[in-house]
Amino acid sequence: MKRVLLIIGGGIAAYKCLDLIRRLAERGIAVRCVMTKAAQEFITPLAVGAVSNERVATELFDLEGEREIGHIRLAREADLVVVAPATADLLARMAQGYANDLATAVLLATRAPVLAAPAMNPAMWTHRATKRNVRQLEADGVQFIGPNAGEMAEKGEAGVGRMAEVAELVTRIEALLTADGKEGGFGFLNVSTARSARPASSPLPLAGRHVLVTSGPTHEPIDPVRYIANRSSGKQGHALAVAARRLGARVTLISGPVQLPDPEGVEVRHVETAREMLEAVEAALPADVAVFAAAVADWRVAMPGAGKIKKAAGAAPPALVLVENPDILRTIAKRGARRPALVIGFAAETQDVVAYATAKRKAKGIDWIVANDVSEKSGVFGGDRNRVHLITADEVEDWPDMDKAEVADALLRRAGDYLAQSRESV
Ligand code: C5P
Repeated sequence: MKRVLLIIGGGIAAYKCLDLIRRLAERGIAVRCVMTKAAQEFITPLAVGAVSNERVATELFDLEGEREIGHIRLAREADLVVVAPATADLLARMAQGYANDLATAVLLATRAPVLAAPAMNPAMWTHRATKRNVRQLEADGVQFIGPNAGEMAEKGEAGVGRMAEVAELVTRIEALLTADGKEGGFGFLNVSTARSARPASSPLPLAGRHVLVTSGPTHEPIDPVRYIANRSSGKQGHALAVAARRLGARVTLISGPVQLPDPEGVEVRHVETAREMLEAVEAALPADVAVFAAAVADWRVAMPGAGKIKKAAGAAPPALVLVENPDILRTIAKRGARRPALVIGFAAETQDVVAYATAKRKAKGIDWIVANDVSEKSGVFGGDRNRVHLITADEVEDWPDMDKAEVADALLRRAGDYLAQSRESV
């Protein structure tokens, strides 16, 4: 029987946990609950205890409870820890590694994968501090579900901040608890592969492979203080590196300038320009899989100023002469013997997404291309979600709207399958 430790945070969405516990129990999943002090303002330990059929843990220093079952045991005995609702405060404490109550102490002590379902007011969700905490937690391996857009508990307020629905939570929890984490044709992010839920004997799909990922924008200098850049956040590229690592690969991430922390367990090379990125990619070869998610500048300034270009009174503005940057993806795809077995590109388009991307796949000589709509209305640049089409030599697959982390996981699982098949067919 699989065991979920449900950490209930202090938000109005806490009431949904009663239904969640029931739905999980119906599926034969045992649920043990920890409630924060704030959670008890919304629902009572008595109600939670009644539906879970287990004593609810609430205190870090509970003599009776510690004798019965301490926080280390709570942490160790779970196959998956679910934090729902994950409030802004709880996320902040998790990101800092606090252990000042039972919930955070358990989260610090567990080796099981952690799934957080944030719920908060939209202003709190979009606050820089919360975003920073979420980025940190993602880099630490915590997975997220939601929040969804919709009405808030506060009258008349709407936006992104509603906790994921119980049905969504159940689906994701089941997927994470299954041995290979696969669900509905898409593999979902599966920390369990790297942690406790997967049996030790089952190999990770990318074990023994070297995966190279490019991420972020490039900065092309105009002079020592100015540069040409683009709006790429690096979120998709970094998520790819994290996913590849979790799936067992040795990962080299070559990143342009981004505001993201270096993912844990990944070798990161920081570069600024397209030419530096090409050099770093070449140096990182050979690789089994290369995923080019960076938004590389197509052009650079032919002759960047050696010193800051001065504004002279009455003089015309300087003209910038641009020259083409190397196409890193195309260069590597045509590398002959050192070409990775699977070369994947991304195509960011604002119109006729699939048609342009299909042509690009052929023109660049690559195996797969992941096409996405980056028009302003899509919210892909800088956002957390992505809706992509996977274009291979044989087909075009339209994937549903997913977290960038889920896109990364699904893509790299496919890469693992591809490599396994090509090995078999040798
Ligand atoms: O031609 P376009 O820039 O749309 O192609 C996008 C794909 O090519 C992405 O995978 C991107 O990382 C890669 N690319 C590259 N080097 C460039 C331009 C694009 O690797 N100079």
